[in-house]
Amino acid sequence: MEDYINKISSASEYILSKIDSVPEVCIVLGSGLAPLASMCDVISSVPYGDIPGFPVSTAPGHEGRLIYGVLEGKKVFMMSGRFHYYEGYDLKDVTLYVRVMARLGVKTLVLTNAAGGILDGMKPASLMIIKDHLSFFAESVLRGANLDEFGVRFPDQTHVYDPEYIDILDRAALRLGINVRTGVYAYSKGPQYETPAEIRALKMMGAGAVGMSTVPEAIVASHCGMRVAAVSCISNLAAGISPNKLTCEEVIENAGKASADNCALIKEFVKSI
Ligand code: HPA
Repeated sequence: MEDYINKISSASEYILSKIDSVPEVCIVLGSGLAPLASMCDVISSVPYGDIPGFPVSTAPGHEGRLIYGVLEGKKVFMMSGRFHYYEGYDLKDVTLYVRVMARLGVKTLVLTNAAGGILDGMKPASLMIIKDHLSFFAESVLRGANLDEFGVRFPDQTHVYDPEYIDILDRAALRLGINVRTGVYAYSKGPQYETPAEIRALKMMGAGAVGMSTVPEAIVASHCGMRVAAVSCISNLAAGISPNKLTCEEVIENAGKASADNCALIKEFVKSI
């Protein structure tokens, strides 16, 4: 545990040495959100490999850079590339960056991802604002000794996704004329996609979309007292709903099609908070 706290400290000190003031917001660029990096005035950009203790991202389309810049007149961090449990990392490493952001004093975490759509009538390349999640079938990211300096042993999960942020995202989408749904994101550890039976079960439990990221990060962020906003790009219809076999190519293609709306929504959100 001491090693882990040391990793958080060394990573935060390194990042502090590269910036002149700490942004309020960190945006995680999930699939399809990479173009947001070029819409920001980049002040500096550091490969994850240079940050002490940071894992290196291996997922396709996840570049692996921490960007520091200005978006909509506000200083931001952007994580271009994130870490997934399915890549083989320990959940503590998957979420190390979140604790580093909390240690630095970042107040808001914006999580984006690609997900399989479950809600009736959902269309590929559309967006869903995450209002809650299902994750009780996966190991908790908070298992093990509690990091008391970050948060309490038994954190409340009533509002992991900040209600005011959900509202801001909703109104931002309306202003921009982007059609969004709001729903529950079901966390699946991956890397295999779900079976049709699993999707039917998730649907009965109230899931609107399913994906392999976001939840461990959101839990850690809320444990640290950060405010979380999260948006899924519906990159495919979930298994059994889609008439086709699921492929990574389809996910990347539809995440690309939704990219303009997705970037516009996140920009408008940053402007509005
Ligand atoms: N399932 C899980 N993760 C995903 C999916 C899916 O259908 N699409 C994109 N990420």
